[in-house]
Amino acid sequence: MSVWHISGGRPLRGRVAVQGAKNAVLPIMAASVLFPGVTRLTNVPELRDVDATVRILRRIGCAVERSGHEVTIDSRYITGAEIPHELMRELRSSVIFLGALLARCGAARLSMPGGCELGPRPIDLHLGALRALGARIDESGGDISCSVPDRLRGAAIALPIPSVGATENAMLCACRAEGETVIMNAAREPEIAELQGFLNQLGAGVSGAGGPTVRVRGGIGSPQLVRHRIMPDRIVSATYLAACAAAGGDVELTGAEPEHFSTVLRSLSETGCDIITEGASVRCVSRGNLRAPGPVITGPYPGFPTDAMPLMLSASLKARGSSVFVENVFQNRFRFTEELRRLGAKIHSEGRVAVVTGVDELYGAPVSATDLRGGAALIIAALSAEGKTDILDAGHVGRGYERFDENLAALGADIAKEG
Ligand code: UD1
Repeated sequence: MSVWHISGGRPLRGRVAVQGAKNAVLPIMAASVLFPGVTRLTNVPELRDVDATVRILRRIGCAVERSGHEVTIDSRYITGAEIPHELMRELRSSVIFLGALLARCGAARLSMPGGCELGPRPIDLHLGALRALGARIDESGGDISCSVPDRLRGAAIALPIPSVGATENAMLCACRAEGETVIMNAAREPEIAELQGFLNQLGAGVSGAGGPTVRVRGGIGSPQLVRHRIMPDRIVSATYLAACAAAGGDVELTGAEPEHFSTVLRSLSETGCDIITEGASVRCVSRGNLRAPGPVITGPYPGFPTDAMPLMLSASLKARGSSVFVENVFQNRFRFTEELRRLGAKIHSEGRVAVVTGVDELYGAPVSATDLRGGAALIIAALSAEGKTDILDAGHVGRGYERFDENLAALGADIAKEG
């Protein structure tokens, strides 16, 4: 088990180069399966979720090479279309391989991803979209088997919720369907536009990403080599700025895309921090005495990102006044607040709402990370607490943050990592 020891109360000062986006690289790695050629990705973050995706690609026959932030995937020969349970368990979002494998092989088999720390995470919308495109799907004993009895045909798909994963799965599968697919109420997250850019490099005809309707003209080209640089991670960006807001100091992000997390920047400004953006640089200057931000209400993009809510909540623990957080995307996202209370935070949560009443001081204590962003939220709180906090199960953060401890230490944090 990985344990982090943080002695709080030190301001953060310096620069951080933003890593590539986890939620952009995973669907793009799956999309590399769509064509029999070579994909070379740069700015790929070194994360546990990426390691798991590499294992899946190798399992289905791809040759994958990694060197630092570059990953080369040779998907000329696919030898299997099955993802075993142990790999599915490591990476819930590997369900994205369903659309890619169906498109490439006409078949796919994997086990149900099941729920996660954030509550039940059904995949009914993914399966509905693939069925609309002509897939036959059998679910039995926790396994999902997909085949294409006839052929994949373009379809009109209206999503009842703008699900990110279902939109991506439908886009991947539709690339090899006959005719046009129209995805209505599509997710509008920046990672969808990034995927569209990659698919179009394969010769696909995808348009509309970033808006509510995505159109895919079936059929892709036969490129030999496709190169793509992964966009910066907007949630990681938000994390470093929230940490600076909470601990005080002056942190500059380089290589960021501030437009992608403008709702978070607005919230941080409301706390009294100075947020200075210039091109790809975002700077946060915090004197540490924050005031409560206005209500933070999560929602699909361009709403406040659910993944950044725990970070903003942690940054508000010592702010003057009360802050309200409403979680509209996942059911069970406030579990980490129980751990924050151990540090002396005053939080009342019920259902989808949490109210934070600012306290003068937080005090270090042993806590456990419940999930990826909940773990990051504990780290932010620990940085602004008096004394030492031990964070157990901190391994969760390795799923989404590259060299988080080293980067925070370089900014002046007192951090030691064990395991
Ligand atoms: C993606 C992100 C995750 C982020 C989330 C919301 C990746 C790898 N993960 O997750 O970090 O928190 O978007 O921005 O990109 N739903 C259904 N049925 C389905 C699919 C989803 O009911 O078939 C529900 C979910 O339970 C959830 C909501 O729709 O309540 C949104 O989920 P979705 O947008 O699909 O999130 P993910 O793609 O899983």
